[in-house]
Amino acid sequence: MSDLALTKDKLSEIKERSAKYLLGNYAPYDVAFKYGAGELLFDTNNKQYIDCLCGVAVTNLGHSDADIIDVVHKQADMLFHTSNWFYSDEASLLAEALITNSFPGKVFFCNSGTEANEAAFKLVRKYAISRDKHNPVMLSLKQSFHGRTVASMGMTGQEKIREGYGDLLPGFEYVEVNNEESLEEAFERNNGNIAGVILELVIGEGGIIPLTQSFVNLARKLTQENDALLIFDEIQTGMGRTGKLFACEHYGIIPDAMTLGKALGSGFPIGALIVSKPFSGVLGPGSHGSTFGGNHLAAAVAYETLRILISREIVENVPALSEFAFTRLRLLKTKYPIIKDVRGMGLHIGVDFTIPSKSIAVECLQEGLVVNSTADTVIRIMPPLNIGIERLDEALQIFEKVVIKHS
Ligand SMILES: Cc1ncc(COP(=O)(O)O)c(C=O)c1O
Repeated sequence: MSDLALTKDKLSEIKERSAKYLLGNYAPYDVAFKYGAGELLFDTNNKQYIDCLCGVAVTNLGHSDADIIDVVHKQADMLFHTSNWFYSDEASLLAEALITNSFPGKVFFCNSGTEANEAAFKLVRKYAISRDKHNPVMLSLKQSFHGRTVASMGMTGQEKIREGYGDLLPGFEYVEVNNEESLEEAFERNNGNIAGVILELVIGEGGIIPLTQSFVNLARKLTQENDALLIFDEIQTGMGRTGKLFACEHYGIIPDAMTLGKALGSGFPIGALIVSKPFSGVLGPGSHGSTFGGNHLAAAVAYETLRILISREIVENVPALSEFAFTRLRLLKTKYPIIKDVRGMGLHIGVDFTIPSKSIAVECLQEGLVVNSTADTVIRIMPPLNIGIERLDEALQIFEKVVIKHS
């Protein structure tokens, strides 16, 4: 039997086993990746792909970075895990680095984005109750996505995410994206009970929609006036994705707390809640916790990720790559009327079509380009932040080839 036949059988075998043993809550594309190098991925058939999804904004440094591998090896040799009942050099160094590069405050570590948002929700509730707001309301945006656990699902504005789960926790309300009247009206209607507002500065899963400066300014003003907390969910926008280390730097606004996940650990699971100084005493001893949160291995990898992003000036290169991509994509928009809009910030890019985008994502994959379809009609393009311009050009050529077929 040829090597090719062997590897083809491998995919069938993986698919069969997955169908039999994995819960069917995902609908995977017809590919199993085997290894990665930089911006490239290779499947079980050794076919090469350009990765413009980055595991959904996770592998911002690309795959198999030598320094990341080195830290994993060194830390694994030393110690994986002890417990948050003991001090940790790695967690304290990571917390210091995050604070030095964001705003004064303190950090809580967990294992995922949704857990970071759960922690933010608990912070908001605990502060509200301490201020005698006994029916606290959490505001978020209609197209938002904040995760899959119960409070994060409650904060998620997209109804399809909450569908079929019956009544969740009380106290969630949703306002129109970038609609200042809707935001003001929610504060008025709730008459002093708004406890927090959580925002993705660029809506991700909901279709790559950047928030306007004036909307974010208003959220800052209203939360301050109402003794409510402003939370930025930077799980997808953080770690350089938008061309600044954190998207809030574009807006010049410091939140009361910020949540991180995804690219923080370059693919090693870790999440974080950064709480600004005035609120950093709210979650005191015993009020919240996590067994794995920020363990030695996760914290060491995340610390190295941050070190690489800063020392290699990777974020500084994002604006030039972004300009190249947006210029090319806007040109495609003028050529092909099926492209309705090109939006985003940095290398957090959405191309909105007049047709469902799923088949475009599938065909891109067949042509060797990994992107994904979100919000029904949007293709999300999120290459590694250190991709070369030639490779980005190659990726966009594949994308155009697929767009032409649908035009
Ligand atoms: C903005 C945002 N918040 C939260 C989450 C949830 O993160 P996780 O899947 O790590 O729980 C995501 C995941 O896509 C996200 O994009």
